[in-house]
Amino acid sequence: MKSDWRVIANIITLTIDGREIRCKEGERLLWAALDHGIYIPNLCAVREADLPFGGCRLCLVEIEGRRSPVAACSQHVENGMVVRTDTPQIKRLRRTAFELLLSHHHLDCAHCPRNKKCELQKIAAHQGFKLKVERLRLIPREMPVDSSHPLFTYDPNKCVLCGKCIWACQCRGLGVIDFAYRGLETRISTFDNMPWADTGCDSCLKCVEVCPVGALVEKDGAA
Ligand code: FES
Repeated sequence: MKSDWRVIANIITLTIDGREIRCKEGERLLWAALDHGIYIPNLCAVREADLPFGGCRLCLVEIEGRRSPVAACSQHVENGMVVRTDTPQIKRLRRTAFELLLSHHHLDCAHCPRNKKCELQKIAAHQGFKLKVERLRLIPREMPVDSSHPLFTYDPNKCVLCGKCIWACQCRGLGVIDFAYRGLETRISTFDNMPWADTGCDSCLKCVEVCPVGALVEKDGAA
């Protein structure tokens, strides 16, 4: 009986968009919502990561009693918490964050290998956003595509800088890539811009697997 009490003590109840859900104490809000079929847009969150990256700001939600919206990927659930994922304020903030990403993303869905499997498309469809920049200035980037690896290419002009590929590479114990440069020039790079295949990369393709957009894609016939 003692162990039953422990299990019960670990389960908490919260409300998301009027729906009561039960989940484990200590869980992050984003995963608790997704596990219960409540979609909160997200691009940079990795469930297995110890610390949330928190870069895309698409997962903002409102919590009753809090003055400002919080990122669901960083927020731990609390018993009795009341969460709203789609208030007018949240929609406005999310749309701005989305447009900010699009403002320097090379939008060419028709010719992108990730067409119809891209997280940006999924978020746009779910939120009713257009896949175009309307309120911000378009800042096209024209950085060279890195084709130095025999199995995949990296197009920094499509990269949303979610950091998932860096995380995946670190999980392999390799860590051959990281963020490099600053501002609009920021991209993923190998150390000293070395050709990717010369870095110790073991071609596991995990970085390609976790890329939510068409920045890291397998070369034709590489699979
Ligand atoms: S998923 Fe939460 S900030 Fe990106």
